[in-house]
Amino acid sequence: MERTVISGGLVVTASEEVEADVLVEGERIAALALRGSETARSWAESGARTVDAAGHYVVPGGVDGHTHMEMPFGGTYSADTFETGTRAAAWGGTTTIVDFAVQGRGRSVRAGVDEWMAKAEGRCAIDYAFHAILSDVDESSLRETDALVDEGVTSFKLFMAYPGVFYSDDGQILRAMQRGASNGALTMVHAENGIAIDVLVEQALAEGRTDPRHHGEVRKALLESEATHRAVQLARVAGSPLYVVHVSAREAVEELVRARDMGLNVFGETCPQYLFLSTDNLAEPGFEGAKYVCSTPLRPREHQEHLWRALRTNDLSVVSTDHCPFCFSGQKDLGVGDFSKIPNGMPGVEHRMDLLHQAVVEGRIDRRRWIEIACATPARMFGLYPSKGTISPGADADIVVYDPRAEHVLSAATHHMNVDYSAYEGRRVTGRARTVLSRGRVVVDGGAYLGEAGHGRYVPRSTCQYLI
Ligand code: URP
Ligand code: ZN
Ligand code: ZN
Repeated sequence: MERTVISGGLVVTASEEVEADVLVEGERIAALALRGSETARSWAESGARTVDAAGHYVVPGGVDGHTHMEMPFGGTYSADTFETGTRAAAWGGTTTIVDFAVQGRGRSVRAGVDEWMAKAEGRCAIDYAFHAILSDVDESSLRETDALVDEGVTSFKLFMAYPGVFYSDDGQILRAMQRGASNGALTMVHAENGIAIDVLVEQALAEGRTDPRHHGEVRKALLESEATHRAVQLARVAGSPLYVVHVSAREAVEELVRARDMGLNVFGETCPQYLFLSTDNLAEPGFEGAKYVCSTPLRPREHQEHLWRALRTNDLSVVSTDHCPFCFSGQKDLGVGDFSKIPNGMPGVEHRMDLLHQAVVEGRIDRRRWIEIACATPARMFGLYPSKGTISPGADADIVVYDPRAEHVLSAATHHMNVDYSAYEGRRVTGRARTVLSRGRVVVDGGAYLGEAGHGRYVPRSTCQYLI
């Protein structure tokens, strides 16, 4: 069995920082030894391959709990395949994604999961797992979720938005939550009042307000918070846990705070775009704002402080990317003259670890919280811990040797995502994944990609590890 020692770095997990060497045997972490200890010396002399981590952090590979590779949406498909998207994730220090298998209308949930399994099989650079999107909530699809939970698809997303596409009404959401309460599934909700939003969309278009910035204006913060409130009450009635995806509005965070202060199993996720971008981007001249069209939408800049605070207080506990890229040319431009036809979604899977590290550099969060929100908590939330999300004996050797001083500029010219623009074009960040191991294999090292499609394996998940 191949043995690798990662030596000289500062091991940072969600719970501690320790100057230690890490021994990897095969695909797993075998042991940690304090720097300079007898054990560490014996490893150094054992002939094991050494990865020099001096001056670097040694952190768990990132766990991105919300991606959409090859997702059909708005008359097109998100531009990253499982091959290109997981490769880009690896470049950025993410070693596990949880993607969303879509139940097509009139089809079984199982058919959607099978389809996504087939798309991913043999193509991924890093490990992957699935949630499922429920588009047709009825007795038959809910019955299916029992078996899927047993097989490792343990969370289901429901949409209060997008009437006529993914939308479920309150009765359907309540039924899905009741099923989750009995079979252990985590219910994930896209909390926006889609029925009300559609009225405002229609009115805006009728008045000639067709530019991308109106996407943000009609998808009002109050309609996010109203839906969040409703989702919480439905979860209380059902006695089920609730995970609210891509929270962007201060008012929605306030609903989560209230729920969490009551001790409810209610969890919130936000994404880098809400922490770093704003309606100023949606209002960029010409059609440029289309690059930033996603739902929930970007909010005025003043919301960002509230999201950061909620991340510090754990009222938001996960940062995922909601990576759902559409090219500016040929995809986003489906919405020229009608913002409601712009495919919703933004690229980001490659930059999450660096953007959150930038928040460490700027003093918004500390290093352990960085790892907690980007690695450990998503792993626990989605039943992957401790194989994923930490550095401890027995865990998968998904490890990033992270250079905290490397400065670089985010740009479409240099990123690896299969999309023709960067939402962060020209942004300078400090910190970068230098060496990335996925289950013991070096997949990225010093600017070279050494991975391969098919190395990544499907990981069945256990149920949410936070429930009380
Ligand atoms: O705009 C977004 N978020 N697109 C992806 C689908 C979703 O709602 O997560
Ligand atoms: Zn959504
Ligand atoms: Zn999404």
